[in-house]
Amino acid sequence: MDILGYKKSLFLQDIPDNKSVETEVENMALMLHRRGEQVYATGVYCPHAEVRLDPRNCTGDLIICKAHGYKSNIKTGECLNEPDLKLNTFPTLIEAGVVWVKLY
Ligand code: FES
Repeated sequence: MDILGYKKSLFLQDIPDNKSVETEVENMALMLHRRGEQVYATGVYCPHAEVRLDPRNCTGDLIICKAHGYKSNIKTGECLNEPDLKLNTFPTLIEAGVVWVKLY
């Protein structure tokens, strides 16, 4: 099921506020980061050397990779350590209490 190319993921109520969780949408591993009524979707791999990120290492706008400490912004994908690198980010929308994610 999809809305304008957005794929259904989790219910908003199942993501604790100010937490980040892992999920899968269309067999793609994603991280969803709830900040109030907004949810930001990112990939799960660090843009530095593709180490899998840990959602527990995300606070506020930043996720920190435990491998070498690189910090990435979950809203923009910007990597603070190397501007040429970018964490994958995906558009989201909230509809009927469901988080929808556009993968492509
Ligand atoms: S792989 Fe993430 S900081 Fe190096």
